[in-house]
Amino acid sequence: MPLDPTPVPDELRGLRIALLVSGGIAAYKVVDLASALTQAGTEVRVAMTPTATRFVGAATFEGVTGHPAVTGLFSGGDSPEPHVALGDWAQLILVAPATANVVGKMAGGRSDDIVTATLLAARCPVVVAPAMNDAMWSKQAVQDNLATLRRRGVTVVEPESGHLASGHSGAGRLAGAQGLFNAMVHAVRARYDLAGRRVVVTAGGTREPIDPVRFISNYSSGKMGFALAAAAADRGARVTLVSAASHPAHHGVEVQHVDTAEEMLAELRSQLRGADLLLMAAAVGDFRPARIARHKIRREETASLNLQLESIPDIVASLAGDEALAGVFRVGFAAEDSDLDSKGVEKLKRKGLHAIVANDISRRDIGFGSDYNAGVLLFADGSRHELEKATKREMADRILDLVLPRLPH
Ligand code: CTP
Repeated sequence: MPLDPTPVPDELRGLRIALLVSGGIAAYKVVDLASALTQAGTEVRVAMTPTATRFVGAATFEGVTGHPAVTGLFSGGDSPEPHVALGDWAQLILVAPATANVVGKMAGGRSDDIVTATLLAARCPVVVAPAMNDAMWSKQAVQDNLATLRRRGVTVVEPESGHLASGHSGAGRLAGAQGLFNAMVHAVRARYDLAGRRVVVTAGGTREPIDPVRFISNYSSGKMGFALAAAAADRGARVTLVSAASHPAHHGVEVQHVDTAEEMLAELRSQLRGADLLLMAAAVGDFRPARIARHKIRREETASLNLQLESIPDIVASLAGDEALAGVFRVGFAAEDSDLDSKGVEKLKRKGLHAIVANDISRRDIGFGSDYNAGVLLFADGSRHELEKATKREMADRILDLVLPRLPH
C-alpha cells in the first residue's frame, strides 16, 4: 500500500533534501514521498544502497525527482565526488526505509556504500525511519544502535505496527507520511531558525579606482562577512552576499561581486527589497579619487602624483532613509581602536541602525585578516552584549542568536 496522501508542510518547501534509501520492501513506498516532496517545491536527490536497487529501480526515483539517483560510491549521479557531494549539498537527510543493517552501520560510523558515506559526510539534520521485520526490530542490538543515534542528535521515526511483508503482524512497518513529515519538520525547526528569512550580507573592503590598474582600499579581508553569510545560510535563510572580497562562499549563498561603494549601494538597493535583515560587515571606503584617470598613469609622465579625494556617501545611512526598505533590520559593524561602546552608540544613531557590532582592532590577535574576532553588540534600545573572543564563524552565530528574536515577524 502506498503512503497516505498527506500535504507537504510549508517548512519543507524549498529545502534541499537527500533521500537515502536502503534495501527493504518499504523502499517502494518512498517513491510516493519523493514525488510529493518534489511536487511541493522541495529539491529531492536520492541515493540508494545496492540492495535498495533490488526493490526499486534508480530510474523510478530519477523519474519522480528529475535527478539521477546515486547508487554507488563510484557510479551514478552527476558529481565527480558522490561520496561527499550529497551530504554537502543537503539541508536535511531522510533515511527511509532504514534497515537494521544501515542503522548498525550508522551507529558504528561505517561508510562502505553511498548511503552510509553520505551520512558520514553530512552536516545537516538527519531523520531515520527504520522499517524491518518485527523480530529484527525487537533485538537489543538494533535498539541500542538507535539509542546511540538519538544520543547523537538523529531524529528517529518509530515504525508502526501492522501487517509486515514476512506475513507476521507486529512493529516494523515504515511510518506513514504524516509521521515522516512531522519528524522532518521537527528536525528542520530545531536547526533552521532563519528558514523563510531573506538575509543580505556585505563583505570586504570596497575598492575605489585611481586609474585602470590601481585602486584605494583597506585591510578588510571580508572573512567576517563570509562567516555571517555561511551561518545565516546554514540556519536556513536565503542569503545574498554583496562582496568586494573574493573567497569561496558557502554553496547556499548567492554572491554578487562589487568593487566600489557606489556599486555596493546600487546592488543593495535592489537586493534589499523584501529582505528581513542587512548585516553590513563591509569596510566601505570613506574617500575616493575625485577623478579617475582613463588611462594608466605612467611613471615617466609625472615625478609625483597628487590625488584629490572626495568623501563617499554613507551607504547604510542612505538606506536607512529609504522608505521602501523600512522593514529591513539593519546591523552595522564598526572597527574601533578605543572606546568601543561610546563610538558604537554614536555610529548606531548617526547611521539609523537597529544594532551595531563594535570590534576592537587594537588587539593583534583578532580583527582584520584574523580568523578570530571579539567585540560588543549594541542595540538601539540600549541593550549591550559582550561578544567574547571566538572564531568569526562562532561570533556570526552568536550575533544571529541575539538578532533573531528582534526581527519583525
Ligand atoms: N559604512 C557605510 N558607508 C560608508 C562607510 C561605512 O555604509 N561610506 C558602514 C560600514 O559598512 C559599517 C558602518 O557603516 O557597517 C560603520 O563603518 P565605519 O567605517 O566604522 O564608519 P565611518 O562612518 O566610516 O566612521 P569612521 O570615521 O570611524 O571611519
